[in-house]
Amino acid sequence: MKLAILISGRGSNLEAILRAIAEGRLEASPNLVVTNRAGAGGLDHARRHGIPTGVLSHLDFADRNAYDTALVQLLREHGVDTVALAGFDRLVTPVLLGAFPGRVLNIHPALLPAFPGLHAQRQALEYGARVTGATVHFVDEQMDHGAIIAQAAVPVLDDDSEETLAARILLEEHRLYPLALQRLARGQLRLSGRRVIGGDP
Ligand code: GRF
Repeated sequence: MKLAILISGRGSNLEAILRAIAEGRLEASPNLVVTNRAGAGGLDHARRHGIPTGVLSHLDFADRNAYDTALVQLLREHGVDTVALAGFDRLVTPVLLGAFPGRVLNIHPALLPAFPGLHAQRQALEYGARVTGATVHFVDEQMDHGAIIAQAAVPVLDDDSEETLAARILLEEHRLYPLALQRLARGQLRLSGRRVIGGDP
């Protein structure tokens, strides 16, 4: 599996994926890390692991289709066949999804379909949920909406702040994402309509 990881920020999920590859838990080649934000802290992880990086600012493109067209070209140049969004803060279009059908994944810090979008941990706290978690899913055109591959539940504690809850969820994210990607690498994941066969590692 020739993997590209797309980030916009700190890149702790990127780091978890790269660690899993380095330790042989994820049979993938990390061909490229792409960011839409030149200042993304996660670029340091990529550089430390000696992985090629690309910066494609969304501000340089007229619309999402133009952005994704350039993105697909960059991914193809690096021989990528699978795309992992890891804190990538842009919606993707059919231009990207059509180029890599069934091969674009995302991770979200809640038990979808609860709390999609930004500040999922804050949403869970404000709602008063007692359980939230992490979800790995196939990406479709809608935000945090595609077929669910794997989920892990995380308790919400009485004295949680957004930060303590986010940290507890993040531990599960870092465990779950490499496991789900490994299933894809092994050909154990299949999409059937909206349902995923072989998910939930
Ligand atoms: C994670 O919580 C992920 O679930 C969400 O954005 C955050 C990215 O964190 N999509 P990081 O950049 O991987 O540390």
